[in-house]
Amino acid sequence: MKQLVNPNLHDLSPYKPGKPIEEIQRKYNLEKVVKLASNENPFPIPDRVSDAIRDELGSLHFYPDSDSYYLKEKIASYLNVKSENLILGPGSSEVIKMIVRAFLKPGETVLTSDKTFLMYRIASIETSGKESFVQVDMTNDYCYDLNGFRKAMDDKTKIIFIANPNNPTGTMLPKAELLKFIEEVPEDKLVVLDNAYQEYVMDPGNYLDGIDLAVSRKNVIVLRTFSKIYALAGLRVGYAVANEDVIFYLGKVKSPFNISRLAQRAAIASLDCNDFKEKSAALNAKNRDVLFGKLERMGMNPLASQANFILFFPGTDIKVLNERMLQEGVIIRPLQPFGFDNAMRVTVGVEEDNEYFLNKLGKVLAE
Ligand SMILES: Cc1ncc(COP(=O)(O)O)c(C=O)c1O
Repeated sequence: MKQLVNPNLHDLSPYKPGKPIEEIQRKYNLEKVVKLASNENPFPIPDRVSDAIRDELGSLHFYPDSDSYYLKEKIASYLNVKSENLILGPGSSEVIKMIVRAFLKPGETVLTSDKTFLMYRIASIETSGKESFVQVDMTNDYCYDLNGFRKAMDDKTKIIFIANPNNPTGTMLPKAELLKFIEEVPEDKLVVLDNAYQEYVMDPGNYLDGIDLAVSRKNVIVLRTFSKIYALAGLRVGYAVANEDVIFYLGKVKSPFNISRLAQRAAIASLDCNDFKEKSAALNAKNRDVLFGKLERMGMNPLASQANFILFFPGTDIKVLNERMLQEGVIIRPLQPFGFDNAMRVTVGVEEDNEYFLNKLGKVLAE
């Protein structure tokens, strides 16, 4: 079989998402399972969004609008850009693949940090093989090392991915530092700012959202998603903001009808739910602080996070710990696939779920 397969895939492990609740309930015969593994918003969608979804049910026998016209109009007015600056995908993960497929030529490379979101690696290797993927070590305090990027950049570098805040560390690059870096990158290299967790950032004044750069420059792309603060992970919508020319070429690799009818309607409605967004960010900040403090007191060395998750170092074998936590009905994320052999990541949930996680963690570690 192996000889039938695209050789780029020989070196590729598929993306392993956090396990679904149903699987753990079935496998361990558990009634209660708490999932804090995939950085979802723990609050269900607001009524206005469920009403929009319900309203669309009668039209599901028709394909959706392939161009997501009304959703793009809505995002455009929300960001103060033109529809021509936008392209949508079923999750920003898919937009990452579209960017690599559209722009990475044979022999060129993707540059990013180690210990970052896995889709950059997957998209790069799938398209152009393992030589196409270059990673720079993080700084000692688990930040993207932009000086390391400067040194690693060469003639072959084509696409630079920057997750800000980064998953799984929750660390953020300060605005001035990132801006300076982008301004130094030659125009024949694309800089992709992946802002999946932007709405959770504590100090927006020190955050580069990049929208103005994406519109005015030919080599900056900003990625956003409805999966996190908008609580629509189950419907899959993400998008890129970029110069019209970049969007034109991304349009060539977009699949037809790629955003479902329900997803389009829900995303449009969710952009009118400012209260929900603000409430989600505020509760995340509060619960994140509590969770961080308790993890710190347990000696877990958590990293300060600007997102809706916390990385911690349990000081024990994470494979064994993870298995025991699953048996106890708690799904969190062991971080070996991200390049940490000693760290776990927990999503900030509602207070009750965070407490459940902390209790089970205490119990398992005491064994
Ligand atoms: C940094 C980062 N970018 C993008 C995504 C992808 O989100 P989605 O495909 O749901 O839009 C994630 C998801 O966890 C992420 O952590």
